[in-house]
Amino acid sequence: MRVLGISGSLRRDSHNTTLLRAAGELVEEQGVEFEVFDGLKAIPPYDEDDDVGIGPAAVARLRRAIAGADAVLFATPEYNSSIPGVLKNAVDWASRPLTTSPLRNKPVAVIGASTGMFGAVWAQAELRKVLGATGARVTEVELAVGHAHEHLDQEGHLADLAQEEALRDSIRVLLAELEKAEVPALGGVI
Ligand SMILES: Cc1cc2nc3c(=O)[nH]c(=O)nc-3n(C[C@H](O)[C@H](O)[C@H](O)COP(=O)(O)O)c2cc1C
Repeated sequence: MRVLGISGSLRRDSHNTTLLRAAGELVEEQGVEFEVFDGLKAIPPYDEDDDVGIGPAAVARLRRAIAGADAVLFATPEYNSSIPGVLKNAVDWASRPLTTSPLRNKPVAVIGASTGMFGAVWAQAELRKVLGATGARVTEVELAVGHAHEHLDQEGHLADLAQEEALRDSIRVLLAELEKAEVPALGGVI
């Protein structure tokens, strides 16, 4: 089994990428492979005219990475109370074509961190909504790391033990979803 991690931040020292890597170590402790997708920056802005065949190379790579994973774990920052554009753009590409989208029926979980007080809760909520619209199986996972520059060190250790446990719980919930039998997707909203 394999979990793909996608960070919504392109920043070299991103708190979300750090959090994602820490989550990945917990995934690997359970004997499940984990890989962070590193191609977000190369993905062009969504253009339906370019969405033919396998699409642009960077998009084909994203779709292949999602298709090859049993689950996807997202860690997102919050930009102006919402999902960073690069991440929303990537999800839009991955959501098409609707009937064969690699996100369809895929177990996904969303966690996040921000330097603000609320730990990207709005961005996370919006990302869950968007993923639900793609037909992904959005798990009931919540982890909002606020004041990330103070509460998360460079190795991904969380200062708050309750949050450390919440991260472990998040991984447990996501991996438990993999064990469940596949259920028919409700389908997208469009
Ligand atoms: C354009 C922009 C908008 C932001 N808006 C918010 C926001 O609405 N809420 C928040 O908590 N932090 C906001 N921040 C601060 C981010 O939480 C902070 O930069 C964080 O470190 C980004 O995540 P990263 O470390 O993974 O790159 C914003 C940052 C940028 C660059």
